[in-house]
Amino acid sequence: MRVVVLVLLAVAVLVLLGGCVAPPEKPVKDSKLEKHPYPAGNIEMNEWKAEHGEYVEENEETALQACKNCHPQPENFCNKCHAYVGGAPEIRY
Ligand code: HEC
Ligand code: HEC
Repeated sequence: MRVVVLVLLAVAVLVLLGGCVAPPEKPVKDSKLEKHPYPAGNIEMNEWKAEHGEYVEENEETALQACKNCHPQPENFCNKCHAYVGGAPEIRY
């Protein structure tokens, strides 16, 4: 009897602990804008989301400076999303 109670207790504790593990934080609110204002002012947001990494790589001298103007905190924007999706670099500027 005692063993059964202990097992039940252990299960209950595990279930409670499991409930406390936070789901992965959604990184940034998905933008509702249709166009991203940089670099051209008319780039489709979906395209930009897919291709900004390549753009940054190809224009490393200038691109990050520009990102910084509108996204001043990479730790609260770029890196939140990068950590969430995985495989994307940690950005510093
Ligand atoms: C002129 C200002 C401006 C510049 C410069 C800029 N952005 Fe943005 N960016 C925005 C705005 C505004 C949004 C939409 C934010 C929203 O809707 O909350 C956005 C959204 C994004 C998103 C989509 C986020 C999401 O969750 O939907 C990504 C990715 C992004 N920017 C990356 C970059 C990168 C990388 C750079 C630099 C190469 C950059 N941005 C430069 C203004 C800018
Ligand atoms: C909404 C999610 C999201 C946000 C916000 C975001 N990124 Fe990314 N980024 C990604 C994803 C997904 C990838 C990986 C896919 C790819 O290679 O394009 C990526 C890849 C990259 C890469 C690597 C490209 C390569 O070829 O290795 C760079 C550089 C980059 N992002 C820069 C930035 C910068 C700078 C910001 C902030 C201004 C930013 N990203 C914000 C989702 C995001």
